[in-house]
Amino acid sequence: MPEKSLIEKAKRVLIGNFQKKGFTIPSKNLYPFQWKWDSGFIAIGFAHFDIEKAKKEIYSLLDAQWENGFIPHIVFHTKNDSYFPGAEFHKSSLNSKSPKHIDTSGITQPPVLGFVLEKLYDIADNKKEILKFIKSQINKVYKNHQYFYSKRDINNEGLVYIYHNWESGTDNSPVWDNIWKTMNPPRYKFERKDTTHVDSSQRPTNREYDHYIDIIELAKKFNYDDNKIAKHSPFLVQDPLFNSILIRSNECLIRLYKILGGNEEKIKYLKSKNEKSLININKKLYNSSMGAYLHFDLRNGKKIPLICSSSFSPLFCGAPDLEMAQKLKSTLMEKFGKHDYYLCSSFDPEGKQHDQKKYWRGPVWINLNWILYHGLRRYQFEETAKRVKNDSLELVDTLGFYEYFNPSKKTSKESNKGYGGENFSWTAALTIDFLSRK
Ligand code: GLC
Repeated sequence: MPEKSLIEKAKRVLIGNFQKKGFTIPSKNLYPFQWKWDSGFIAIGFAHFDIEKAKKEIYSLLDAQWENGFIPHIVFHTKNDSYFPGAEFHKSSLNSKSPKHIDTSGITQPPVLGFVLEKLYDIADNKKEILKFIKSQINKVYKNHQYFYSKRDINNEGLVYIYHNWESGTDNSPVWDNIWKTMNPPRYKFERKDTTHVDSSQRPTNREYDHYIDIIELAKKFNYDDNKIAKHSPFLVQDPLFNSILIRSNECLIRLYKILGGNEEKIKYLKSKNEKSLININKKLYNSSMGAYLHFDLRNGKKIPLICSSSFSPLFCGAPDLEMAQKLKSTLMEKFGKHDYYLCSSFDPEGKQHDQKKYWRGPVWINLNWILYHGLRRYQFEETAKRVKNDSLELVDTLGFYEYFNPSKKTSKESNKGYGGENFSWTAALTIDFLSRK
């Protein structure tokens, strides 16, 4: 059975990327440390065949949580100079709340852990054992959500901000282009490492990197103090993907706390946050004439009128009502779902900034497809969900476990290659999940 052999190959990718210290790298050479949202997806993959590794993945990430609840986007468990910017650049020790035993970055990534813990619960055969593990970790995740609402919801509207494009997970999306125009960073001297591993036509430009570095320099100047960052960062955005993931994770934490029993105060807190978040994500981030959720640029006080794969992620947390959900599906199919295109391009194929090769400016990413698949199923859009899943599996099966893929069927077939890192962990992990029944 081809499905079986694909699962076996995917398992080998995950096992190959698993490290002795109990965490999994996203991809050899290109990403040699532990990344936050990657770890969540990786744990889901492992849970299907090696629950102990799934637990280790979560444990090793949460072991690097800061005292204030913050969870960093990179944990530098080991030394490795094949990546820039590394531990010496990020300097987490500038902040007194960062862990003393390990170096991390001072920016975060989408809060996936709530729904990941729930997934582990649903997948595991031994519910008693997995609940024991969940009980030992869940309060750390709760504390992380408290951090977001107390530090990053500056208008008290249930919508948290990100202060760096790397926090979105969608690093060089065209959504940020106009924000870069408000900045004029110096030309930093640094040695890119990514372009020694991957063709530079598939990666962000050096000038884009100047902006990324500049924001971190600013955060470092303030010792990663949230209040000062909120006041001064030129990049301050409410991202529909980040917020949808937070809402969905709140929902999952509520379910898990109920199963565990006796956590009334925490459930009450999460429920009240979600009520507000759900109202305001619709009020503030939905644009009915475009039929899509948009990013809100808090620093410059306006919506960013561009559609990308994150625009559909509120389906994942149940935010849109039925009419809005139908509209989202139409936008998705009309713009992204043409027959000669794989679902789902990371950026509007009709947009002038769309680039089939370049990272988050057009290629298909399997983790976003997974989120979209579950969002569509939540609204019983079974046929579209099936297309997203089948497109994902076709790409992986014919081209391999790449980091991202050309969305054009014709170009993909002609070049017969995926892009970015090879043997990429979350692509493998989510392939396993797509092909498993639980
Ligand atoms: C890239 C992706 C980011 C991911 C990281 C590690 O930077 O944009 O989302 O977490 O690689 O895989």
